[in-house]
Amino acid sequence: MKKIAIIGGDGVGPEVVAEGVRVLDWFRARRGFELDLWHLDLGAERYLRDGTTFPAAARDAIFHDCAAVLLGALGDARVPGFEHARDILFGMRVGFDLYANVRPVRALSDDLVPLRGRLAKDVDFVVFRENTEGVYAGVGGQLRRGTADEIAINEDINTRKGVERIIRAAFAFARRNGKTRLLMSDKSNAMRHAHELWQRVFHEVRGEYPEVAASHLYIDALCFELVRDPSQFQVIVTNNLFGDIVTDLGAALQGGLGVAASVSFNPEHPDRVKLFEPVHGSAPKLVGLGRANPVATLLCVAMLFEELGFLSAASELEIAIRAAVRAKETTPDLGGTLGTRGVTDAVLRRLSPA
Ligand code: IPM
Ligand code: MN
Repeated sequence: MKKIAIIGGDGVGPEVVAEGVRVLDWFRARRGFELDLWHLDLGAERYLRDGTTFPAAARDAIFHDCAAVLLGALGDARVPGFEHARDILFGMRVGFDLYANVRPVRALSDDLVPLRGRLAKDVDFVVFRENTEGVYAGVGGQLRRGTADEIAINEDINTRKGVERIIRAAFAFARRNGKTRLLMSDKSNAMRHAHELWQRVFHEVRGEYPEVAASHLYIDALCFELVRDPSQFQVIVTNNLFGDIVTDLGAALQGGLGVAASVSFNPEHPDRVKLFEPVHGSAPKLVGLGRANPVATLLCVAMLFEELGFLSAASELEIAIRAAVRAKETTPDLGGTLGTRGVTDAVLRRLSPA
């Protein structure tokens, strides 16, 4: 039995996660998958009700008992300081040391690619985002706050171990998947202390992977090249903040935030709980309309199947999602007319009933 923690979170999070749950339930009922879904009431609503963000008991139970977490989205205007979200999200990403945040950028159909003359086959790469340090580490402070002389600081924390393990994880992924090109991106021309470390480690590690053509671009140049010709990229490894930014750019290349999925895990501990999240946020404007795109979450479920070893379910589900998207059985953001539930129905209809 695999236990999966379900956290809808904020905004459209619960709406899209409910669709992921329908797919998980379908595979339980139709294919006899032994999945134990554990629904957790966490997010802004709960925080505003009783002050709870991420209780230690839930955190420990997720870490010790669960194979995966399916998380919707976090962020709510009623909690402007983001404190509940920080506790929950970084409580898992950092607290469980899930240092590799893997975000595939793959276009599902030609007409979703917004670049002139480019097809779906031109947008097919994977971003390895460092997930535990960088400016997300929270090291910093404010001085003389609210005065004309105020100072605000967030330090960019880069450790030898942290940089090395994410670069190694990206190279290992390339080798395992027959990818021949890997690009590291930093800003070592400006951040010459913090990012020189990336340069040095990258040059060391690349020597161990002679079959992978390794290259480098500064992050600004990478953004430029991603728009100019995304087909040059197969695997990209970068730090936490740049990975966050570049995967929103990637989402635009693949058809929008509604179709971008991600998994966070610890490659050195493959049995440790893995965290699956759509790249999109809580999308407050869409809440309650039944129009939020569930595709990113459904792709998360496909990734979840793959990571948990249900390989044929993973590819079957991905093929069904792709077919539904190509048939325009989608929400309006992808050119269709269906609602959130209707998209899942269209995907489930494409799975063979046996
Ligand atoms: C993401 C999100 C988060 C991040 C926010 C909600 C803190 O943008 O998962 O990409 O920056 O990591
Ligand atoms: Mn983001």
